[in-house]
Amino acid sequence: MIGIFDSGYGGLTILEKIRAILPGYDYIYLGDNARTPYGTRSFDVVYHYTLQCVEKLFDLGCHLVILACNTASAKALRTIQQRDLPRIDASRRVLGVIRPTVESLGKLTKTRHVGLLATPGTVQSESYPIEIKKLFPDIIVSAEACPMWVPLIENNEHLSPGADFFVKKNIHQLFRQDKDIDTIILGCTHYPLLLPKIRQFVPKGIELVAQGEIVARSLENYLQRHPEIEQTCSKNGQCIFLTTESEEKFGASARIFLQKDIQAQHIYLQ
Ligand code: DGL
Repeated sequence: MIGIFDSGYGGLTILEKIRAILPGYDYIYLGDNARTPYGTRSFDVVYHYTLQCVEKLFDLGCHLVILACNTASAKALRTIQQRDLPRIDASRRVLGVIRPTVESLGKLTKTRHVGLLATPGTVQSESYPIEIKKLFPDIIVSAEACPMWVPLIENNEHLSPGADFFVKKNIHQLFRQDKDIDTIILGCTHYPLLLPKIRQFVPKGIELVAQGEIVARSLENYLQRHPEIEQTCSKNGQCIFLTTESEEKFGASARIFLQKDIQAQHIYLQ
């Protein structure tokens, strides 16, 4: 099965697009809901939590794990790929969401001024500016941390009038940094749920980059280029949902993301 990991529910926005484009594969979604949010936690903590979840997915038989979480991709992916995978099993793969998102930017921005909206952890890591500089040295990036957006979504308050204050505030602060921005990366897998509100406060004509389809297309491409990994993936079109929190809580909140009933199973990581 292909493992899809997120700190909570945000990765469901990625899973949904992956399953739409690659419906034949089997997936295990693991949400570390008991320890979410990751976005305000330190580098070391995010790394240890993420590694534990990846190892769990490996134990469950996944050969390929997608970190469907920007914070985990920013703070843990590189160390896991370089330091842990050779020790655990060099034939397994862990991929993140930042690189494919950055690859998509080249064709999207005309002004070459890009904005990033993300969790404090992703912004502090500077992973986006670093990756963008590698691929597109001419692009200027401005980043705005939005610490309130994930709690608003997780509490199902994202479409309420109360959410307007925080969405407007962070978008205004982003444009105060750079008024020439024509493309904004929604650098957190929760943020697609805020799209209607974000659109309301962003000037017309601005490109909003949500990651689901980008990551799904990138995975499709990856599987085509890596038949040795593709062959390890089972293909019955199934999906299992695992949560470190209660099954009832997962079901209720997952509904906000997927608009359907989800039966999750609780797991302990140790
Ligand atoms: N889904 C995570 C991300 O994409 C954010 C949620 C969290 O803070 O744990 O960054």
